[in-house]
Amino acid sequence: MGAIKKIVKWVGIVVGSLVGLLVVAVVFLILLGSMRVNKAYEIQLASIPIPTDAVAIERGRHFVETVGLCSECHGDQLQGDIIEEDPVFGTIAPPNLTSGAGVLLGS
Ligand code: HEC
Repeated sequence: MGAIKKIVKWVGIVVGSLVGLLVVAVVFLILLGSMRVNKAYEIQLASIPIPTDAVAIERGRHFVETVGLCSECHGDQLQGDIIEEDPVFGTIAPPNLTSGAGVLLGS
């Protein structure tokens, strides 16, 4: 076997091994990634008591109207609004925050 043939053979073995290792590494990372993505967490849902007394309602109104300025974007009655509708930039539509049927927070 000539010297050139030997060199070509070894270059082939080295390159082939590297490509093989790369394929194994990529497959491993894909499997690891999908395992992490599909991981399910067990959580305890806390039930949050919602006060309905006048003081709590007034505190909520103060928070919504003065502190959080929620109605600036979600509408006067928090009924939802469209504050931006641009073919390039996109649509910004703060959702309905009321507890009416069929809305985001209905349940
Ligand atoms: C600057 C505008 C703006 C203000 C101020 C604002 N929001 Fe929003 N809000 C949005 C937009 C826009 C969305 C929709 C985001 C989306 O669809 O990804 C949203 C979504 C929500 C959602 C739905 C989240 C979900 O799970 O989809 C809730 C709840 C909410 N806002 C509550 C509030 C409350 C409470 C306040 C006041 C403390 C508030 N927002 C103030 C713009 C605003």
